[in-house]
Amino acid sequence: MKIDELNVDEHYGEIGEVVSDEQKRRGVLIHAFQKIQKEHNYLPEDQLKELSEKLNIPLSEVYGAASFYKHFYFKPRGKNIVCVCVGTACHVRGASKVLEKLEEEFGVKEGETAPDKSMTLETVGCVGCCGLAPVVTVNEEVVGELTPHKMKEIIEKIKE
Ligand code: FES
Repeated sequence: MKIDELNVDEHYGEIGEVVSDEQKRRGVLIHAFQKIQKEHNYLPEDQLKELSEKLNIPLSEVYGAASFYKHFYFKPRGKNIVCVCVGTACHVRGASKVLEKLEEEFGVKEGETAPDKSMTLETVGCVGCCGLAPVVTVNEEVVGELTPHKMKEIIEKIKE
């Protein structure tokens, strides 16, 4: 995202008349974070610095606002986001083995991105499909009743 092109006033329309300049500048932060992350897959430091200067908001506050939301990231993320469910049902049905297998195959630990950026490995408490345990999500897709064969397919697809 070109921070220079960020037009603070255009986001407010008529309501802009009753909103202070400072409120307007702070109010566009989330929108800017979304655009930056969409383009880079995370929030690069140089972009946040530029944003801080453009909006005249201290960098610490820019980081503070972004880190409040779980879905903004400060490190590059992989092309695929693989999330292993480690909730009770999945734990009982072998989630730790699933996690170990993925860590071993991609040379990562939970929360890390593979060196080739093919994937980022995450965990989650429950995805609401306990009857299908053990479960992983690959991007938007839920894969349940994992078997070694399904794991192999997931791994091969990511490595393609
Ligand atoms: S515990 Fe894994 S889907 Fe609920």
